[in-house]
Amino acid sequence: MIKYEFENVDADLVSPSDKIKTWLFDPPYNINFKYGKEVKDSMSEEDYVSFIENSVIKMYDNSLSDANLFLIIYSDTAARLLSTIEYTGWELKQWITWIYPSNMGTSKNHLTKAHRAVLWFTKGNPDAYIDSVKQPYRNPNDKRVKKLIESGKKGTNLYDWWEINLRKNVSKGYAGWYNQLPIELVRRIILLTTEKGDWVGDLMAGSGTLMEVGYPLSRNCYLNDIDKRSLSIWKTFEPVTLDRIYSALIDIRQFIPLLPVEEIKC
Ligand SMILES: C[S@@+](CC[C@H](N)C(=O)[O-])C[C@H]1O[C@@H](n2cnc3c(N)ncnc32)[C@H](O)[C@@H]1O
Repeated sequence: MIKYEFENVDADLVSPSDKIKTWLFDPPYNINFKYGKEVKDSMSEEDYVSFIENSVIKMYDNSLSDANLFLIIYSDTAARLLSTIEYTGWELKQWITWIYPSNMGTSKNHLTKAHRAVLWFTKGNPDAYIDSVKQPYRNPNDKRVKKLIESGKKGTNLYDWWEINLRKNVSKGYAGWYNQLPIELVRRIILLTTEKGDWVGDLMAGSGTLMEVGYPLSRNCYLNDIDKRSLSIWKTFEPVTLDRIYSALIDIRQFIPLLPVEEIKC
């Protein structure tokens, strides 16, 4: 059995920093949410904008020349951040809306918030694998559609809005982390933009949904989070081949060493 240690610190070791094909970016939303003690989710607007800006610059500098970035955030915040992000070099390819049923935060003044923006940015000209994720035909009994199904077609292209339930404590793999992303959301992002053997990365990985989904799909993964408790969850994903996983536990505002893990045989 292989155990692995994610906390190895030797910045000179080979890093995958120029290999990341797709970044997942699911940051705190600056709404005074209670994360671990290391995270302050109540910055001034100016500080928050520069926090996001610096993060996406790091991702831009540490990715392939043809790469993708998916930012998951409330749409009003996305609208405010968009020009800042595009100024860093990332180009908006598509604004996807993720919708989900919710009864959280109901109010007498506002409609219930039940969607987020998934902003798909690109650097260079990465391939998109649109056929890798399909949705079922809406009218399978239509004559034309029947023919398509008979010819082996599995469905039609995804829309730019995705209805996917939030990950709750009854969901598969729920680890009790803050705002754990749904598996299906991450699966779509990975399949639409990467192939087997590509590197995917998440600098604020939390419970490590990117690795939970990406590793079984034969993607190589880089994870980071400032909150060291995330490590104990990442370690539950087995089996893991060490040369396919890199990780760190740092505050990304400081630096971005992309470090190999250490193998410990027992
Ligand atoms: C919304 S959660 C990510 C959840 C994750 N996508 C998942 O599916 O579990 C945001 C994460 O950002 C981390 N974080 C916040 N500030 C950070 C920083 N400066 N550097 C690194 N990680 C940070 C938090 O600890 C938290 O785990």
